[in-house]
Amino acid sequence: MNGKVAVVTGAARGIGAACARALLAGGYRVAVCDIDAAAGEKFVRELGATGDARFYVLNVMDAGQVEAVMKQIVADFGSVDVLVNNAGITRDGLVMRMKAEQWQQVLDVNLNGTYYCAQAVVMPMIKQRQGRIINIASVVGQMGNAGQANYCASKAGVIGLTKSLARELASRGITVNAVAPGFIETDMTAKLGEKAREELLRNVPIPRLGQPEDVAQAVLFLAGEGASYITGHVLNVNGGMYM
Ligand code: NAI
Repeated sequence: MNGKVAVVTGAARGIGAACARALLAGGYRVAVCDIDAAAGEKFVRELGATGDARFYVLNVMDAGQVEAVMKQIVADFGSVDVLVNNAGITRDGLVMRMKAEQWQQVLDVNLNGTYYCAQAVVMPMIKQRQGRIINIASVVGQMGNAGQANYCASKAGVIGLTKSLARELASRGITVNAVAPGFIETDMTAKLGEKAREELLRNVPIPRLGQPEDVAQAVLFLAGEGASYITGHVLNVNGGMYM
């Protein structure tokens, strides 16, 4: 145990769940947050880490709920040392056919949610004079992708937010970094057809799909002591898809 407390959003499955597992194995106590209460509670039961992992139902789009849940986590665990902003959604479509709500929902969860969660932990982290904020961006936030303008804009926004927050908080002992995954095998990408997968893999020099654990190891590194002089960085975990 290193005694530190990590909060992971969207942690009931996929990359968030892998981050929660890796942090737990790294000695952190983990607040597992997700909008999906049934899946989140089941996941925490499976972890079997009595006391060291707790589930909190959290919709990151809801600023009031974010504030309340972060306060509850600090009350329950005594601090919040690491925040992993992982909750994210896609609502794909070409811009010419995109509905206003498709655009808005993706920005609300991926970008506003990241902002609300970061804002809610900044004061406790400033008081502790240390903290780590790690935002999950995406390779397509760096490259763009046809059919994902809403998602790419939200993830590019996350990178801009990361760099600005890094500058604001560096003198307070808080680092802020992003991890930009490439094509990772989760429920989010399971929707893609076989043809789209093959097409995508053609552009990935390391000839396999990424696994949630590949992303989780990057997060674990950025959360740890070894990364204390790294801030405002975007760490690519994309098999070389974008360099
Ligand atoms: P996933 O769809 O497997 O899991 C996302 C989790 O977020 C789910 O448990 C879901 O219930 C939760 N969630 C959704 N809306 C929420 C909300 N409003 N509040 C709280 N929780 C919410 O997704 P995956 O693949 O694990 O992705 C995780 C993150 O990684 C996302 O930010 C995604 O954009 C990013 N990413 C994923 C890539 C991939 O290839 N899978 C590639 C690049 C980035």
